[in-house]
Amino acid sequence: MNRFISFEGIDGSGKTTQIEILINKLKSANEKAISFREPGGTSISEDIREILLNNKNSTLTDTAESLLFFASRSQLLSDKIIPLTNQGYFVICDRFNDSTIAYQGYGNKIDLNYLYTLSDYCVNNFRPDLTFFLDISVDLSMKRRKMKLSDRIESRGEDYLEKVRSGFLEIADNNPKRFIIIDGEDNKTNISNKIWDIVSDKYKIS
Ligand code: TYD
Repeated sequence: MNRFISFEGIDGSGKTTQIEILINKLKSANEKAISFREPGGTSISEDIREILLNNKNSTLTDTAESLLFFASRSQLLSDKIIPLTNQGYFVICDRFNDSTIAYQGYGNKIDLNYLYTLSDYCVNNFRPDLTFFLDISVDLSMKRRKMKLSDRIESRGEDYLEKVRSGFLEIADNNPKRFIIIDGEDNKTNISNKIWDIVSDKYKIS
């Protein structure tokens, strides 16, 4: 096991809040824990994030977009995720490979076989032990998002997000050992308790 956990979900699914709670619980149990967001997490990856999410880059091609997500991820793996897990840290990622399969593959219709090949090349077998998928409806995602400006990918709208959500559910179906589907519309404390039960049991934390 790598002590590497990812969180996935459509926009507004509450990943960031749940990651913060999990990190605090791990630290209270005297574990070393750190989180990263994707795309991002290193200065090079944050530069790539800016290219990917900036609305001014409306001419970025779908292929270039996919490659940039992998580029950002590859840098984050080498600079942070692999060295820190080797030092015994719990590394929690706000999105990882499954987001590219769901958003670029199921959402943008980039050939899934290409994406899986690139993904194998990019992560070189270094995958999360556990992935929590916080599932919310596209309706709720749209409502939660009304409060803030949409980035380049969020501007794609409801039909796109429906494809992304069913994509995540299909990926979960294909990876039943790794994926835990959580009802993201449940209350915050119930969700964080469920997550903690699973993490503390898997890694034998008391
Ligand atoms: P994120 O920072 O998680 O946004 P939010 O916190 O608002 O959910 O992700 C930024 C956007 O990038 C989000 O719309 C999902 C998208 N994305 C992809 O399309 N493919 C990817 O591989 C990743 C990691 C993110």
